[in-house]
Amino acid sequence: MLTLTVPLPGREYDILIQPGLLPQAGGYICSVLPGARKAALVTDSHVAPLYGEIVAHSLSLAGFQVETFVVPAGEESKCSDQLAKLWSGFARFGLTRTDCVVALGGGVVGDLAGFAAATMLRGVAFIQIPTTLLAQVDSSVGGKVAIDLPEGKNLAGAFYQPRLVLMDPTTLDTLPDETFADGMAEVIKYGCIADQSFLEFLGQHATRSAIMANIGHVLHTCCRIKAEVVAEDELDTGRRMILNFGHTLGHAYELAGHYRTYTHGQGVATGMVRAAELGISLGLTPAHLSGSIARLVSAFGLPTAIPCTQDDYAAAIGLDKKGAGSSISLILLDRPGHAVAYPMEKQQLLAML
Ligand code: NAD
Ligand code: GLY
Repeated sequence: MLTLTVPLPGREYDILIQPGLLPQAGGYICSVLPGARKAALVTDSHVAPLYGEIVAHSLSLAGFQVETFVVPAGEESKCSDQLAKLWSGFARFGLTRTDCVVALGGGVVGDLAGFAAATMLRGVAFIQIPTTLLAQVDSSVGGKVAIDLPEGKNLAGAFYQPRLVLMDPTTLDTLPDETFADGMAEVIKYGCIADQSFLEFLGQHATRSAIMANIGHVLHTCCRIKAEVVAEDELDTGRRMILNFGHTLGHAYELAGHYRTYTHGQGVATGMVRAAELGISLGLTPAHLSGSIARLVSAFGLPTAIPCTQDDYAAAIGLDKKGAGSSISLILLDRPGHAVAYPMEKQQLLAML
């Protein structure tokens, strides 16, 4: 068992990483929430048939009364309709403030169930059981929960930390290659921003099977970095912004494909390569780094260039009518394994793009 703690004063929680953990989930949840009687298990239509029963059974064996809530798989479920259905379902189930909500799935389920838990009865304890690589290395840790609005992604949300995060790496075996690659974009990001030796390790293990052969090390390293950053800046007003490396430009590529042609991970992969190129042009980033990142993301089938209009770039950097302020802090690398916030005039950035 690999264990990490997210050391937030008064709200610290553990991340447990172990193959075969799912059937033991109930016992671990019971040990952090000994007073809880009911567990609202939230999952999606892809994950429910794969792992729903294992977790529900484990919760029952641990003494919980369990009800499972299944939302349709996909980003569309991160919406106010599904949120309201969960609230009503929790109320009919008789969930109380001493009970818990358990999210079993990818980032969509984690964000939606977490926001439902944060707002139900002004806060019900929340457990994350992430089943995608992205959710295991990123979204299940750090307490950002949200739904999307028709006006944009993640516009209604909260900071609401889970009480426990349980990761069973064997769940990754059933992921499609594209979904695994999306998670790899975030894994590579951690190496770029915070750990040169991890970046080198990824270069030496640049296949899905090599990553899976070392998955404990990969998950532990990413979660260690994320936990450190979150502990220093939980509310995202400073250092946590380094986690956005590749994401500002990635957003432009997602916009360019109308959120359909390119996945988030594909946008981030290209965004990291482009951000490294920008850093090189500005004399900040070492010259070899954009090529190294491009080779690494390509090895996982992620793109290194995506056609994008000036309008998409302008919207992504907040230079359209909705953007506030004329400057932006772009996250750039000043050396392999180290990121800095680089303040720039948005017009200068757009001209460089
Ligand atoms: P997702 O939750 O949609 O999962 C991707 C697909 O994989 C879905 O079809 C899902 O049903 C399926 N799936 C999940 N686990 C599976 C498994 N083990 N085997 C087979 N299929 C499985 O997407 P995601 O990439 O996990 O998460 C993306 C979401 O996360 C976005 O909404 C994004 O905004 C959010 N996010 C949140 C944070 C945060 O800090 N809260 C960080 C990054 C991303
Ligand atoms: N995914 C970025 C963050 O948690 O801040």
